[in-house]
Amino acid sequence: MFVPAKPFIPEKPLGFRPLLRALRTNALSTWPVDVYEQPFMRRSLAGRINYILNEPDAIHRVLVDNPGNYRRSPASVRILKPITGKGLLLAEGDDWKLQRRTVAPALAPRMMPLLTRHMVATTDEALETLHGQIGEPRDLLEFMQNLTLEIAGRSMFSLEVARFGGEMRALLNEFAVHHARPSMLDLLLPPAIPTLGDLRRRRFQKRWMRLIEAIMRDRLATPPPEVPRDLFDLLRAARDPETGAGFSAEQLRDQVATLILAGHETTAVTLFWALTLLAQDKVEQDKLASDPDTRTRMVLNETLRLFPAAFLIVREAIGPDQAGQHKIGRNDLIMIAPWILHRHHALWQNPDAFDPDRFSPDTPAPPRFSYMPFGTGPRVCVGAQFALAEATIVLSAFVKRFDISLEGDRPVLPVGIVTTQPDHHPLFRLRARTGTVQSAVGSS
Ligand code: HEM
Repeated sequence: MFVPAKPFIPEKPLGFRPLLRALRTNALSTWPVDVYEQPFMRRSLAGRINYILNEPDAIHRVLVDNPGNYRRSPASVRILKPITGKGLLLAEGDDWKLQRRTVAPALAPRMMPLLTRHMVATTDEALETLHGQIGEPRDLLEFMQNLTLEIAGRSMFSLEVARFGGEMRALLNEFAVHHARPSMLDLLLPPAIPTLGDLRRRRFQKRWMRLIEAIMRDRLATPPPEVPRDLFDLLRAARDPETGAGFSAEQLRDQVATLILAGHETTAVTLFWALTLLAQDKVEQDKLASDPDTRTRMVLNETLRLFPAAFLIVREAIGPDQAGQHKIGRNDLIMIAPWILHRHHALWQNPDAFDPDRFSPDTPAPPRFSYMPFGTGPRVCVGAQFALAEATIVLSAFVKRFDISLEGDRPVLPVGIVTTQPDHHPLFRLRARTGTVQSAVGSS
């Protein structure tokens, strides 16, 4: 069975300085080998208790049973706020409740048929351009980032991203390279004290939000229609059930920024990892191409197990609590890592191997909380249906049309910085799989 390349895993827990260094370069290399075998790990770092929880009861308590006692960590807020503002991802308390109630219905399963039309059309157009490049080395990470951005823009906001896409991708790249890696001070100082990195991030935030405002300007210039056409119209029409107030222009802008960011990079890397796995496992690739209706979801589920785009869920305890066997104190940091759970030796057989049959319809479901690429509880990913519908359409259309292989034999190593990225952009070679061009229609 094919085993993809793994990041460096330390034998022992890292000391303070190596840990900070590793957090900046690759969070996946901060967890020692033991954590993939034990039910939990507890450490004190710079005076703060850190837990890594792998036990169902403790995870249930933090994410499902008592989520009100846990908020996003100061470092997550520092890093993500410049790009998502006060949108759903970082909102807390009553503000979060209202935002969630507004956004969730627009991304619910019953809305999928409306959204998948855009997904299919955009995918067909993008794959058509690849036919002209058969045999040439291609950067498929960049391809997927552009495609998922186009799909997010068109389906959620009826935007033609072509006008803004280049600038948006450039800003997102700048963010990933210069602003997404936490410095020592970012991790140690309370959020009220700005670090040098924060000052740079604020400058970045101004440019990013100006771009989102420019994108929204055309839509805001016309009055909202009676019947909402897309997520943007729904957000504009939303009213607080108690006060009757709508979102302000700034809140609307932050929501659009949040959904564009959260809604495309995660799906892009998931599709990238699926293609990387398939390029290295020809047997699985051929199986998928001959039965995409059954196997696409299995391959995606297994890709999200081995390379969960959101590799870590972090919370800070607001007050004391009892989570499973642990007495949680105020300000303790709780880490629940899909990356670790999905490769835990007590939860999976042969955890590092790529085996989509784990998710075949006749295999029993994995144990409770051992598989959670979209999180769980009230803050579960609001875009999970959207992401799965999109990834299924794109991946099945791709393998029906193309046979793919990787150029050269440099291993593609995962790096955890906000999302699970590759350490370089590998090049792929495509060959047409059949003489006929296949449409993405009917592949969801
Ligand atoms: C494969 C793709 C995706 C993965 C793996 C993923 C993963 C996750 C995870 C694990 C969380 C929970 C984080 C936590 O509890 O701290 C989350 C939250 C969220 N996701 Fe996704 N996501 C994906 C795609 C999407 C898409 C397509 C959208 C939008 C259309 C989206 C929007 C959001 C938002 C707004 C939140 C915050 C929800 C809240 O706090 O109420 N995600 N995502």
